[in-house]
Amino acid sequence: MMPPSITTIEAFRNVLAAYRLPRVIVTALELDLFTAIATGSWTIKKLAQAIDVSERGLDILCRNLAMCGLLHKRGMTYRNNPFAATRLNAKHSQYRDAYVELLRSQWTDWSRLTETVRGGRPVDHDKPEAPDYRRQFTWAMHHHSVDVAARIARQMNLSRVRTLLDLGGGPGTYAMAFLARHPKLEATVCDRAAALAVAKEIAATHKAGKRLSYLPLNFMDEPLSGQYDVVWYSNVLHIYSPEENQALFRRVFSALAPGGRLIIQDAFLHDREGLYPEEASLFAVSMLLFTERGNTYSLRDTARWLQAAGYVKIRPIKMKKGTEDWDGGLLEAARPA
Ligand SMILES: C[S@@+](CC[C@H](N)C(=O)[O-])C[C@H]1O[C@@H](n2cnc3c(N)ncnc32)[C@H](O)[C@@H]1O
Repeated sequence: MMPPSITTIEAFRNVLAAYRLPRVIVTALELDLFTAIATGSWTIKKLAQAIDVSERGLDILCRNLAMCGLLHKRGMTYRNNPFAATRLNAKHSQYRDAYVELLRSQWTDWSRLTETVRGGRPVDHDKPEAPDYRRQFTWAMHHHSVDVAARIARQMNLSRVRTLLDLGGGPGTYAMAFLARHPKLEATVCDRAAALAVAKEIAATHKAGKRLSYLPLNFMDEPLSGQYDVVWYSNVLHIYSPEENQALFRRVFSALAPGGRLIIQDAFLHDREGLYPEEASLFAVSMLLFTERGNTYSLRDTARWLQAAGYVKIRPIKMKKGTEDWDGGLLEAARPA
Protein backbone atom coordinates (compact mmCIF):
# COMPACT_ATOMS: atom_id res chain seq x y z
CA MET A 1 0.00 0.00 0.00
CA MET A 2 1.33 3.45 -0.97
CA PRO A 3 1.38 6.04 1.82
CA PRO A 4 -0.39 9.31 1.03
CA SER A 5 1.82 11.88 -0.62
CA ILE A 6 2.14 14.85 1.77
CA THR A 7 1.43 17.99 -0.23
CA THR A 8 -1.10 19.82 1.98
CA ILE A 9 -1.29 20.77 5.65
CA GLU A 10 -4.27 18.40 6.02
CA ALA A 11 -2.32 15.45 4.59
CA PHE A 12 0.64 16.42 6.81
CA ARG A 13 -1.61 16.47 9.88
CA ASN A 14 -3.24 13.14 8.99
CA VAL A 15 0.08 11.35 8.59
CA LEU A 16 1.59 12.89 11.72
CA ALA A 17 -1.52 12.21 13.82
CA ALA A 18 -1.33 8.49 13.03
CA TYR A 19 0.52 8.07 16.35
CA ARG A 20 -2.74 8.55 18.26
CA LEU A 21 -4.30 5.10 17.91
CA PRO A 22 -0.98 3.28 18.52
CA ARG A 23 -0.55 5.43 21.66
CA VAL A 24 -4.05 4.47 22.87
CA ILE A 25 -3.17 0.79 22.40
CA VAL A 26 0.21 1.16 24.14
CA THR A 27 -1.58 2.71 27.14
CA ALA A 28 -4.07 -0.16 27.21
CA LEU A 29 -1.12 -2.59 27.28
CA GLU A 30 0.62 -0.59 30.00
CA LEU A 31 -2.57 -0.81 32.09
CA ASP A 32 -2.87 -4.53 31.29
CA LEU A 33 -6.41 -3.76 30.25
CA PHE A 34 -6.98 -6.78 28.01
CA THR A 35 -5.95 -9.12 30.86
CA ALA A 36 -8.27 -7.33 33.28
CA ILE A 37 -11.21 -7.60 30.86
CA ALA A 38 -10.25 -11.22 30.00
CA THR A 39 -13.47 -13.03 28.94
CA GLY A 40 -15.77 -10.81 30.98
CA SER A 41 -18.16 -7.99 30.17
CA TRP A 42 -17.46 -4.80 32.11
CA THR A 43 -19.00 -1.42 32.80
CA ILE A 44 -16.54 1.46 32.93
CA LYS A 45 -17.31 2.02 36.61
CA LYS A 46 -16.45 -1.55 37.64
CA LEU A 47 -13.42 -1.80 35.37
CA ALA A 48 -12.04 1.55 36.57
CA GLN A 49 -12.27 0.27 40.16
CA ALA A 50 -10.66 -3.06 39.24
CA ILE A 51 -7.59 -1.52 37.59
CA ASP A 52 -7.50 1.65 39.70
CA VAL A 53 -7.78 4.33 37.00
CA SER A 54 -10.09 7.31 36.49
CA GLU A 55 -13.54 6.60 35.02
CA ARG A 56 -13.19 9.54 32.65
CA GLY A 57 -9.83 8.30 31.31
CA LEU A 58 -11.02 4.72 30.94
CA ASP A 59 -14.27 5.73 29.24
CA ILE A 60 -12.41 7.62 26.50
CA LEU A 61 -9.72 4.93 26.18
CA CYS A 62 -12.25 2.07 25.86
CA ARG A 63 -14.37 3.98 23.35
CA ASN A 64 -11.30 4.27 21.10
CA LEU A 65 -10.35 0.62 21.60
CA ALA A 66 -13.89 -0.30 20.56
CA MET A 67 -13.62 2.04 17.59
CA CYS A 68 -10.63 0.02 16.28
CA GLY A 69 -12.29 -3.33 17.04
CA LEU A 70 -10.09 -4.57 19.92
CA LEU A 71 -13.08 -4.20 22.27
CA HIS A 72 -16.76 -4.76 21.54
CA LYS A 73 -19.14 -2.21 23.05
CA ARG A 74 -22.74 -3.06 23.84
CA GLY A 75 -24.74 -0.40 25.65
CA MET A 76 -22.74 0.44 28.77
CA THR A 77 -20.45 -2.59 28.72
CA TYR A 78 -17.20 -3.54 27.02
CA ARG A 79 -15.60 -6.92 26.28
CA ASN A 80 -12.48 -8.09 24.41
CA ASN A 81 -12.73 -9.24 20.81
CA PRO A 82 -11.53 -12.88 20.37
CA PHE A 83 -8.01 -11.73 19.38
CA ALA A 84 -7.58 -9.47 22.44
CA ALA A 85 -9.12 -12.10 24.75
CA THR A 86 -6.44 -14.63 23.72
CA ARG A 87 -3.27 -13.06 22.26
CA LEU A 88 -3.30 -9.93 24.50
CA ASN A 89 -4.61 -11.56 27.67
CA ALA A 90 -1.81 -12.61 30.06
CA LYS A 91 -4.06 -15.25 31.62
CA HIS A 92 -4.69 -17.07 28.34
CA SER A 93 -2.50 -19.94 27.06
CA GLN A 94 -2.28 -18.27 23.63
CA TYR A 95 -0.96 -14.98 25.07
CA ARG A 96 1.87 -13.68 22.84
CA ASP A 97 3.68 -12.10 25.78
CA ALA A 98 7.19 -11.67 24.36
CA TYR A 99 6.05 -10.25 21.01
CA VAL A 100 3.46 -7.93 22.58
CA GLU A 101 6.11 -6.66 25.00
CA LEU A 102 8.60 -6.16 22.15
CA LEU A 103 6.07 -4.09 20.19
CA ARG A 104 5.04 -2.12 23.28
CA SER A 105 8.62 -1.30 24.25
CA GLN A 106 9.39 0.03 20.79
CA TRP A 107 7.23 3.08 21.51
CA THR A 108 10.00 4.36 23.82
CA ASP A 109 12.79 3.26 21.48
CA TRP A 110 11.25 5.03 18.48
CA SER A 111 10.99 8.20 20.59
CA ARG A 112 14.82 8.17 20.59
CA LEU A 113 15.07 8.31 16.80
CA THR A 114 16.44 11.87 16.63
CA GLU A 115 19.28 10.91 18.96
CA THR A 116 19.94 7.80 16.84
CA VAL A 117 19.99 9.74 13.57
CA ARG A 118 22.44 12.22 15.12
CA GLY A 119 24.81 9.57 16.46
CA GLY A 120 24.25 6.76 13.93
CA ARG A 121 24.41 4.21 16.77
CA PRO A 122 21.60 1.91 17.95
CA VAL A 123 19.64 2.90 21.08
CA ASP A 124 20.99 0.05 23.21
CA HIS A 125 24.05 -1.29 21.51
CA ASP A 126 25.05 -3.81 24.21
CA LYS A 127 21.62 -5.42 24.49
CA PRO A 128 21.58 -7.92 21.56
CA GLU A 129 24.33 -10.08 23.09
CA ALA A 130 22.86 -10.22 26.63
CA PRO A 131 21.46 -13.78 27.13
CA ASP A 132 18.25 -12.59 28.90
CA TYR A 133 17.49 -10.15 26.13
CA ARG A 134 18.26 -12.82 23.50
CA ARG A 135 15.92 -15.30 25.19
CA GLN A 136 13.04 -12.80 25.37
CA PHE A 137 13.67 -11.64 21.78
CA THR A 138 13.75 -15.25 20.55
CA TRP A 139 10.33 -15.95 22.09
CA ALA A 140 9.08 -12.74 20.47
CA MET A 141 10.34 -14.00 17.09
CA HIS A 142 8.49 -17.28 17.65
CA HIS A 143 5.26 -15.43 18.48
CA HIS A 144 5.76 -13.30 15.39
CA SER A 145 6.53 -16.18 13.01
CA VAL A 146 4.50 -19.16 14.20
CA ASP A 147 1.42 -18.50 12.02
CA VAL A 148 3.21 -17.21 8.93
CA ALA A 149 5.81 -20.02 9.01
CA ALA A 150 3.06 -22.63 8.67
CA ARG A 151 1.57 -20.73 5.69
CA ILE A 152 4.95 -20.44 3.98
CA ALA A 153 5.87 -24.08 4.64
CA ARG A 154 2.63 -25.14 2.90
CA GLN A 155 3.67 -23.31 -0.28
CA MET A 156 7.43 -23.88 -0.37
CA ASN A 157 8.73 -26.60 -2.69
CA LEU A 158 10.96 -28.73 -0.44
CA SER A 159 9.75 -32.21 -1.42
CA ARG A 160 13.20 -33.41 -2.62
CA VAL A 161 15.15 -31.60 0.10
CA ARG A 162 16.77 -33.83 2.74
CA THR A 163 18.93 -31.36 4.71
CA LEU A 164 18.12 -27.77 5.60
CA LEU A 165 20.10 -25.22 7.60
CA ASP A 166 17.98 -22.52 9.27
CA LEU A 167 20.72 -19.87 9.51
CA GLY A 168 19.96 -17.30 12.21
CA GLY A 169 16.90 -19.44 12.85
CA GLY A 170 16.38 -18.18 16.43
CA PRO A 171 13.47 -20.19 17.87
CA GLY A 172 13.61 -22.57 14.86
CA THR A 173 10.00 -21.76 14.05
CA TYR A 174 10.56 -22.02 10.30
CA ALA A 175 12.70 -25.17 10.57
CA MET A 176 9.92 -26.76 12.66
CA ALA A 177 7.24 -25.75 10.14
CA PHE A 178 9.29 -27.28 7.28
CA LEU A 179 9.97 -30.46 9.29
CA ALA A 180 6.29 -30.84 10.13
CA ARG A 181 5.41 -30.94 6.41
CA HIS A 182 8.32 -33.07 5.19
CA PRO A 183 8.84 -36.35 7.12
CA LYS A 184 12.13 -37.14 5.31
CA LEU A 185 13.69 -33.76 6.07
CA GLU A 186 16.44 -33.23 8.67
CA ALA A 187 17.03 -29.63 9.77
CA THR A 188 19.68 -27.77 11.72
CA VAL A 189 19.07 -24.44 13.39
CA CYS A 190 22.12 -22.20 13.75
CA ASP A 191 22.08 -19.30 16.20
CA ARG A 192 23.52 -18.04 19.48
CA ALA A 193 23.33 -20.47 22.42
CA ALA A 194 20.64 -18.43 24.27
CA ALA A 195 18.39 -18.51 21.20
CA LEU A 196 18.93 -22.23 20.70
CA ALA A 197 17.82 -22.92 24.29
CA VAL A 198 14.40 -21.52 23.28
CA ALA A 199 14.45 -23.52 20.03
CA LYS A 200 15.02 -26.71 22.05
CA GLU A 201 12.07 -25.95 24.35
CA ILE A 202 9.80 -25.41 21.36
CA ALA A 203 11.06 -28.48 19.46
CA ALA A 204 10.46 -30.65 22.55
CA THR A 205 6.73 -29.96 22.18
CA HIS A 206 6.61 -31.28 18.57
CA LYS A 207 7.03 -34.82 17.25
CA ALA A 208 9.03 -33.53 14.28
CA GLY A 209 11.40 -31.80 16.76
CA LYS A 210 13.40 -35.06 16.92
CA ARG A 211 14.70 -34.28 13.41
CA LEU A 212 16.04 -30.87 14.46
CA SER A 213 19.70 -30.37 15.45
CA TYR A 214 21.41 -27.34 16.87
CA LEU A 215 24.50 -25.42 15.82
CA PRO A 216 25.55 -22.79 18.36
CA LEU A 217 27.71 -20.44 16.31
CA ASN A 218 28.44 -16.85 15.51
CA PHE A 219 28.10 -17.46 11.79
CA MET A 220 29.63 -14.11 10.87
CA ASP A 221 32.94 -15.00 12.58
CA GLU A 222 33.10 -18.77 12.67
CA PRO A 223 33.30 -21.22 9.76
CA LEU A 224 30.13 -22.85 8.47
CA SER A 225 30.63 -26.57 8.07
CA GLY A 226 28.34 -29.14 6.45
CA GLN A 227 26.66 -29.59 3.07
CA TYR A 228 23.00 -28.65 2.94
CA ASP A 229 20.38 -28.95 0.22
CA VAL A 230 18.82 -25.68 1.41
CA VAL A 231 20.06 -22.81 3.55
CA TRP A 232 17.10 -20.77 4.83
CA TYR A 233 18.18 -17.21 5.74
CA SER A 234 15.12 -15.50 7.12
CA ASN A 235 14.98 -12.02 8.62
CA VAL A 236 18.73 -11.81 9.06
CA LEU A 237 19.82 -10.01 5.86
CA HIS A 238 18.54 -6.69 7.29
CA ILE A 239 20.71 -6.97 10.42
CA TYR A 240 23.95 -6.71 8.43
CA SER A 241 25.71 -4.39 5.97
CA PRO A 242 25.92 -5.18 2.24
CA GLU A 243 29.60 -6.21 2.67
CA GLU A 244 28.82 -8.57 5.57
CA ASN A 245 25.98 -10.19 3.64
CA GLN A 246 28.11 -10.58 0.52
CA ALA A 247 30.88 -12.28 2.52
CA LEU A 248 28.27 -14.55 4.12
CA PHE A 249 26.77 -15.47 0.73
CA ARG A 250 30.23 -16.67 -0.36
CA ARG A 251 30.59 -18.82 2.75
CA VAL A 252 27.06 -20.23 2.45
CA PHE A 253 27.91 -21.17 -1.15
CA SER A 254 30.57 -23.58 0.16
CA ALA A 255 28.11 -25.02 2.71
CA LEU A 256 25.60 -25.90 -0.04
CA ALA A 257 25.55 -29.24 -1.83
CA PRO A 258 25.92 -28.89 -5.63
CA GLY A 259 22.51 -27.73 -6.89
CA GLY A 260 21.55 -26.68 -3.35
CA ARG A 261 19.60 -23.49 -2.74
CA LEU A 262 19.97 -20.43 -0.54
CA ILE A 263 16.51 -19.03 0.19
CA ILE A 264 16.36 -15.52 1.63
CA GLN A 265 13.32 -14.03 3.31
CA ASP A 266 13.44 -10.32 4.08
CA ALA A 267 11.80 -6.89 3.74
CA PHE A 268 12.95 -6.28 0.16
CA LEU A 269 12.53 -2.94 -1.58
CA HIS A 270 11.05 -3.39 -5.03
CA ASP A 271 11.10 -0.10 -6.92
CA ARG A 272 14.02 1.52 -8.75
CA GLU A 273 14.53 4.28 -6.15
CA GLY A 274 14.33 1.89 -3.20
CA LEU A 275 11.32 3.48 -1.46
CA TYR A 276 8.59 0.82 -1.52
CA PRO A 277 6.89 -1.14 -0.10
CA GLU A 278 6.33 1.36 2.73
CA GLU A 279 6.86 -1.39 5.33
CA ALA A 280 10.32 -2.20 3.93
CA SER A 281 11.34 1.49 4.01
CA LEU A 282 10.10 1.93 7.59
CA PHE A 283 11.76 -1.30 8.66
CA ALA A 284 15.13 0.27 7.79
CA VAL A 285 14.39 2.79 10.58
CA SER A 286 14.06 -0.11 13.01
CA MET A 287 17.43 -1.36 11.83
CA LEU A 288 18.91 2.08 12.47
CA LEU A 289 17.47 2.02 15.98
CA PHE A 290 18.43 -1.53 16.89
CA THR A 291 21.48 -2.63 14.84
CA GLU A 292 25.01 -1.39 14.20
CA ARG A 293 25.01 -1.69 10.40
CA GLY A 294 21.61 -3.07 9.35
CA ASN A 295 19.31 -1.73 6.65
CA THR A 296 16.76 -2.95 4.14
CA TYR A 297 17.88 -3.81 0.62
CA SER A 298 16.45 -4.00 -2.85
CA LEU A 299 15.72 -7.32 -4.50
CA ARG A 300 17.87 -6.16 -7.41
CA ASP A 301 20.98 -5.40 -5.24
CA THR A 302 20.63 -8.66 -3.32
CA ALA A 303 20.36 -10.60 -6.59
CA ARG A 304 23.51 -8.82 -7.83
CA TRP A 305 25.43 -9.83 -4.68
CA LEU A 306 24.30 -13.44 -5.13
CA GLN A 307 25.40 -13.45 -8.76
CA ALA A 308 28.83 -12.06 -7.82
CA ALA A 309 29.18 -14.88 -5.27
CA GLY A 310 28.65 -17.50 -8.04
CA TYR A 311 24.96 -18.36 -7.55
CA VAL A 312 22.73 -19.17 -10.52
CA LYS A 313 18.94 -19.44 -11.08
CA ILE A 314 18.37 -16.34 -8.94
CA ARG A 315 14.64 -15.64 -8.77
CA PRO A 316 11.93 -14.37 -6.44
CA ILE A 317 9.60 -17.03 -5.02
CA LYS A 318 5.96 -16.09 -5.29
CA MET A 319 3.52 -16.86 -2.49
CA LYS A 320 -0.23 -16.29 -2.44
CA LYS A 321 -0.91 -12.63 -1.74
CA GLY A 322 -1.41 -11.90 1.92
CA THR A 323 0.21 -15.13 3.09
CA GLU A 324 3.80 -13.88 3.30
CA ASP A 325 5.83 -12.39 6.12
CA TRP A 326 6.79 -9.52 3.80
CA ASP A 327 5.21 -8.40 0.56
CA GLY A 328 7.41 -10.01 -2.17
CA GLY A 329 9.89 -11.05 0.50
CA LEU A 330 11.39 -14.28 -0.87
CA LEU A 331 14.41 -14.73 -3.13
CA GLU A 332 16.19 -17.97 -4.01
CA ALA A 333 19.53 -18.75 -5.63
CA ALA A 334 21.27 -22.03 -6.42
CA ARG A 335 24.82 -23.31 -6.27
CA PRO A 336 25.46 -24.74 -9.78
CA ALA A 337 24.88 -28.50 -9.90
C1 LIG B 1 15.26 -11.35 13.47
S1 LIG B 1 15.75 -12.92 14.07
C2 LIG B 1 15.06 -13.99 12.83
C3 LIG B 1 14.69 -15.34 13.38
C4 LIG B 1 14.12 -16.31 12.34
N1 LIG B 1 15.07 -16.57 11.28
C5 LIG B 1 12.82 -15.79 11.77
O1 LIG B 1 12.75 -15.46 10.59
O2 LIG B 1 11.82 -15.73 12.53
C6 LIG B 1 17.46 -12.93 13.66
C7 LIG B 1 18.19 -14.12 14.27
O3 LIG B 1 19.51 -14.17 13.74
C8 LIG B 1 20.40 -14.48 14.78
N2 LIG B 1 21.74 -14.00 14.42
C9 LIG B 1 22.06 -12.79 13.91
N3 LIG B 1 23.39 -12.71 13.71
C10 LIG B 1 23.92 -13.89 14.11
C11 LIG B 1 25.23 -14.41 14.14
N4 LIG B 1 26.25 -13.68 13.72
N5 LIG B 1 25.42 -15.66 14.59
C12 LIG B 1 24.37 -16.42 15.04
N6 LIG B 1 23.08 -15.97 15.02
C13 LIG B 1 22.87 -14.72 14.57
C14 LIG B 1 19.83 -13.75 15.97
O4 LIG B 1 20.32 -14.26 17.20
C15 LIG B 1 18.34 -13.97 15.78
O5 LIG B 1 17.89 -15.14 16.41
